[in-house]
Order: sequence, then structure tokens, then C-alpha cells
Amino acid sequence: MAEDLQLSAQTRAGRYAEVLPQLYALWQGEPDLIANLANTAAALREAHGFFWVGFYLVRGQELVLGPFQGPVACTRIPYGRGVCGAAWREAATIVVPDVEQFPGHIACASASRSEIVVPVKDTKGQVLAVLDVDSDQLDDFSEVDARYLEELCARVATLFGAAA
Ligand code: SME
Repeated sequence: MAEDLQLSAQTRAGRYAEVLPQLYALWQGEPDLIANLANTAAALREAHGFFWVGFYLVRGQELVLGPFQGPVACTRIPYGRGVCGAAWREAATIVVPDVEQFPGHIACASASRSEIVVPVKDTKGQVLAVLDVDSDQLDDFSEVDARYLEELCARVATLFGAAA
């Protein structure tokens, strides 16, 4: 069945290389933005076992919680606040090795120790959403995650275009 992910690689990079093409195949023929964002969060969490994976969508001057996998989370984040709000303001990926060292970090769950936030940008560079991935391990994210998640978010941006 097409909806089952096939995952066998033992490395973080290998898992991304396996899961991303399968995810893109899942998007094929499905025009609904929420459905595709939901499967994206689920696929990333299933592939890597992350503590929390989800999207915050730009709505006016706030980010509003979108499709995610993991424990319940805060629903609204103002522009510039926390890691997500900072990634929106900078329109750039932010890797936080230790969330306790990040000024203004929004602690949705005390088990979260490190995180990466990647903006989803349209062709003009406007941020449409951010992808937030949290780990319960310190220093769990590297350039490998940034590279694959940025590739993913470039494709996620096309889903917004198709839905608009
Ligand atoms: N840690 C984030 C808030 C969102 S949650 O962790 C799900 C931040 O500081 O932006």
C-alpha cells in the first residue's frame, strides 16, 4: 500500500533520503494543503522519532498552529517571539542546540531540549509558515537536518501556491 513508509537506513541523512521521495509521492494528486502538511509532519516524525514536528502558519502578525505530530502545543506565537517567531522575522533557518540558552524560547513542553525551525518561503521570499522540529535530546540537529529540511520546505512552498 502506497501509504506505508519504507524506512531502513540507519543514519539521519539516509532516513531523509528515504523518506522525502516517498512523501513527495504521497502529495501527488492531493491538492489539499492541510492534508499534505499533516502527512509531512507524520512522515518526519515516523522517519526520525522526533519529539514534536509541526507547522505554524503565518496569519497576520502571528503564527498559528497548523498540522503537527506530538504533544499539544501553544497555538499562537507573535512575530519575532521564540525560535519560531525569530525564524519568521529572519526568514532563515535557526538551529538551537540547547533551548534553555535561547533568549525568549517558548517552552511548550519541558521535554524539548533542542530544535530546528525552517521557514517556508514563497518565490518573493515572504514567509508563509515555519516548520518546527523539536527533540528531547540536546544538540540533536546539524547541517544535515538543515539541508534536507530546507529542500523539503522549498517544496512545501509549492503546496501553498497550488492551494491559493
Ligand atoms: N519552541 C518553540 C515554540 C513551539 S513548540 O516548541 C511546539 C519556539 O520557541 O518557537
